[in-house]
Amino acid sequence: MASAVASVGAEVWLLAREHPAALHRPTGELAAALRAVHGERFAVWRTDELLFGIRAGRLVLRTLGGSEIPAPKVVCVRQVPGSMHHDREVSLLRHLEGMGAVLVNPLEAHLRCRNKFRQLQELALAGLPVPDTLTYATAPLEGVVRSPDIDTPCVVKFVTGHKGRGVLLAQDGQLLRDLAGAFARDVPVLFQEYVASSHGRDLRVIVIDGEPVTAEVRTSADGALASNLARGGTATVCPGRFREAEHLAVEAARVLGLAVAGVDLMFTSAGANMICEVNSVPGWRPDMTQVVPAIIRCIAHRLDHRDNEEPT
Ligand SMILES: Nc1ncnc2c1ncn2[C@@H]1O[C@H](COP(=O)(O)OP(=O)(O)O)[C@@H](O)[C@H]1O
Ligand SMILES: [Mg+2]
Repeated sequence: MASAVASVGAEVWLLAREHPAALHRPTGELAAALRAVHGERFAVWRTDELLFGIRAGRLVLRTLGGSEIPAPKVVCVRQVPGSMHHDREVSLLRHLEGMGAVLVNPLEAHLRCRNKFRQLQELALAGLPVPDTLTYATAPLEGVVRSPDIDTPCVVKFVTGHKGRGVLLAQDGQLLRDLAGAFARDVPVLFQEYVASSHGRDLRVIVIDGEPVTAEVRTSADGALASNLARGGTATVCPGRFREAEHLAVEAARVLGLAVAGVDLMFTSAGANMICEVNSVPGWRPDMTQVVPAIIRCIAHRLDHRDNEEPT
């Protein structure tokens, strides 16, 4: 979408993952809306189109063709955190912030969120309700699954999983021990209390700049544990129906430093009052029509702020 020539000099960016992946529908919708508002001041950049470096002690940004790119003022980051392996995209986001760009979401917030355990640490430290969860640093997995601290049934997840992939329910200790032999070792897993009352059902709340913009109850199609729409779940949009849960989602986004957040909440007997996970690059359904205008406002607000800061 970005013609590199036309994009150099744009003040508002949408940064998306590398080619040849197509933009996800919500990201494409957002890009079109930002283009309609900001015209030539807006550009989509992919992470594989940029070189960045240091020249004479100054942070610089280049196209692959060698043209210098001035720092954007605001960058809407739609880079899915799961692919931020080996810190490639992290270094780019840090570079953009170092050049003075305001990131939505900020790099620190992406870093807090990209590891499912790290975000639970932050939420627990802030006193927000999360399920009991256990993980490990370098302990051998075969030893970990024999720990008396792990009760079954329990939910097992990769710390960097997404879209409901790699989330499973281990019904008993034997299954857990069998699984331990099958797991890839490069990504740690976490063992989490199974919230049976929420099996196959959760509440997704989209929070933008401290406001719960919309919400949906998601239900798995086939009795599966994970209710993610990517796994075939269905959704009922229900903003305002679970007010306390929406308030909790706003708190979770605030604690993690997210301007834009997708907060997954699980249902206990007292309502959707247990945080499952928080996403820093959430998607949304086409009928969640409040989301794009809210992100547009969020970005415009930061752009105004930047413009007012600059010496005339
Ligand atoms: N501890 C749990 N108890 C019950 N259901 C869970 C639990 N953890 C996750 N789930 C279900 O699995 C889904 C996916 O888990 P989540 O942690 O959100 O990972 P992902 O990043 O893959 O979306 C959740 O939306 C929820 O429906
Ligand atoms: Mg989720």
